[in-house]
Amino acid sequence: MTFSPRTLRRATVLAMLLASAVPAAARDFRIAVGDGAGGTQEALGLAFIKALEEKSGGADSGTLFLNGQLGDEQDTVTAAATGTLDFSILAINNITPFSPSVGTLTLPYVILSLEDAEKITQGEIGQQMVDRTVEDAGVRIIGWAYSGFRVLTNSKKPVTTVADLQGLVVRVPKNEIMIETYKSWGINPTPMAWSETFAALQQKVVDGQDNPYMTVHAMKFDEVQKYVTNIRYIFSIEPLIVSEQLFQSLSPEEQANVLAAGHEATLASGQFLRDQEAQIKTDLAAKGMEISDPADGEAEFIERATATVWPKFYDSIGGKEVLNGVLASLGRPTVE
Ligand code: MLT
Repeated sequence: MTFSPRTLRRATVLAMLLASAVPAAARDFRIAVGDGAGGTQEALGLAFIKALEEKSGGADSGTLFLNGQLGDEQDTVTAAATGTLDFSILAINNITPFSPSVGTLTLPYVILSLEDAEKITQGEIGQQMVDRTVEDAGVRIIGWAYSGFRVLTNSKKPVTTVADLQGLVVRVPKNEIMIETYKSWGINPTPMAWSETFAALQQKVVDGQDNPYMTVHAMKFDEVQKYVTNIRYIFSIEPLIVSEQLFQSLSPEEQANVLAAGHEATLASGQFLRDQEAQIKTDLAAKGMEISDPADGEAEFIERATATVWPKFYDSIGGKEVLNGVLASLGRPTVE
């Protein structure tokens, strides 16, 4: 079959028009997610993908790999730093081993509300932590999920006092601040990767763990845990990180889209928690979880943890003044 020069010209123009209508480089970023479906991590990821698609006109998108399919949370930091993973959404306590400066957000009883968490992460102090994490760990925090207080769960007995905790085997992340906090409460916790936690609870290798209601629900911990104690020692913040290698390879416009999409997803995350947490707690109670408040307004837990744990970590978070900066910006008394 032969074509006239006119037909060929028309076909060429049509092909050029079609090519310009299709986004230049359709990218599908791989986003690791530590938790299961229905939690704050997934909600942050979905909001990020939606915003990124809108801002890039469909050129950039992403796929979430839930339930640690791309590796344990701490391993995803290394993978992103070395450029073998694009993005990850994980708890801040699993970034601290790579960038101790974000440990300020894991110190017990520093962040006391969702509003505190939003103020610190979205302000100047949050930006300093982003910069430090790029330097220390080779990953850039571009969004923040807010998941609520890490409540204590266990399969053995109601816990309302420090004395009740004695004898329980409690899993904690591999995070020195959290390990020391449990030690201040008189027990030696069991550090364990997040990806192994459900099986360890199910097989009764450990009796308990702590995580927010949203996470307990997303991970179906109600199937293997009975008792909940509303301790409030850490307000869980779960960043969305991007490989710095990947970020630096993007055009200025793509970088701006990624940052703006991360910001939009962050704002959506606060709203998601406000809308969902009370109902999730009610659902977990309806499924048979028994919920208690700590005795004496949690006074003994608070006193022991703040008196002994804070001073141990001044150096690793960058000095006492870093903690004081956070406390001052939250309108709270600083430490001497
Ligand atoms: C952990 O306990 O290791 C994390 O908080 C889990 C999570 O990302 O939800």
